[in-house]
Amino acid sequence: MNVLLTGGAGYIGSHIAVELAEAGFDIIIVDNYSNASKEVIHRIEELAGKRVFAYEVDVCDKAALSEVFRKHDIDAVIHCAGFKAVGESVQKPLMYYRNNLGSTVTLLETMEEFGVNRIIFSSSATVYGVPKALPYTEDMETGPCTNPYGSTKLMSEQIITDAAAARPEMSAVLLRYFNPVGAHPSGRIGEMPSGVPNNLMPYIAQVAVGRLESLGVFGDDYPTKDGTGVRDYIHVVDLAKGHVAALKYSLEQSGVDVFNLGSGQGSSVLDLVRAFERANGLKIPYRILPRREGDLPAYWADADKAERVLGWKVERTLEDMCRDTWNWQKNNPNGYDE
Ligand code: WQD
Repeated sequence: MNVLLTGGAGYIGSHIAVELAEAGFDIIIVDNYSNASKEVIHRIEELAGKRVFAYEVDVCDKAALSEVFRKHDIDAVIHCAGFKAVGESVQKPLMYYRNNLGSTVTLLETMEEFGVNRIIFSSSATVYGVPKALPYTEDMETGPCTNPYGSTKLMSEQIITDAAAARPEMSAVLLRYFNPVGAHPSGRIGEMPSGVPNNLMPYIAQVAVGRLESLGVFGDDYPTKDGTGVRDYIHVVDLAKGHVAALKYSLEQSGVDVFNLGSGQGSSVLDLVRAFERANGLKIPYRILPRREGDLPAYWADADKAERVLGWKVERTLEDMCRDTWNWQKNNPNGYDE
């Protein structure tokens, strides 16, 4: 069965590719490499133990995308391509709307033209906006989002939902990711943020490798157990396996369904620092800084629906996430640039 994976050279997409291959699917990757390296494709093939088709195609480019659909008989699409930096989306909102919404619309149009009916979409817990209650459940009201990046995820969910309503043969699964971290246990693929990392785990990893001096903890006066921000961290391999489960589910279904992909556990910034130190026998120096603008104090997933309906739940611990991150970071200090 042929699965088209947009953004398949990215951090999450590459891990999905490996899990799909392991589950016996054939993979066709499209990626414009705007935030990814071509070396990733070799690493995916090495881990998958088979050939992967990969095309340098921007999903907004209808003609180029159609060419891929013409070449391959595609059975389902997993749509991960998109810009994802929260801060950048505040600075360049139109670039985010054009790219993230344009790609979703172009992809859906092309799917319709070629009679492809199944789509799994990379959404985000950010669609819930400021928590009305915790944990977040899938039936909670969404929005308003706290930044344009989040709005593009929420709007894409709406676009996909409307497209599916107009085509009853369609099956769409919206996956709301919590905080994906970690790397493949082989240390061959992982996250490669460009510049100084914005996100917590890559920042810790770069402190560990000596590239950055110390971690700045954004606020210790939140109403949480130790005053630092609480999030639901999920190992990227568990997240990838969630896509395989969602894909199998979509083969049996029509209509739209939505699932949280999280652990169901909240961990604080200091929990993560301590887990990293424990897992790797290292010391992570940190200092307390003021709160980061736009951050929510705490949120985590209700992960029951995915377990009940998809038969999927996380299997990897915070220590696993920290060990695998460090294994990737220390073996690839410059990311994919060898
Ligand atoms: C986690 C916690 C910070 C960095 C964002 C997006 C979300 C998704 C993932 C995806 C918070 C604290 C962080 C640091 C710190 N985006 N922190 N020092 O903000 O939960 O989620 O990334 O594509 O949509 O909103 O993740 O890892 O940045 O922060 O203290 O140097 O770590 O304040 O409490 P976040 P994060």
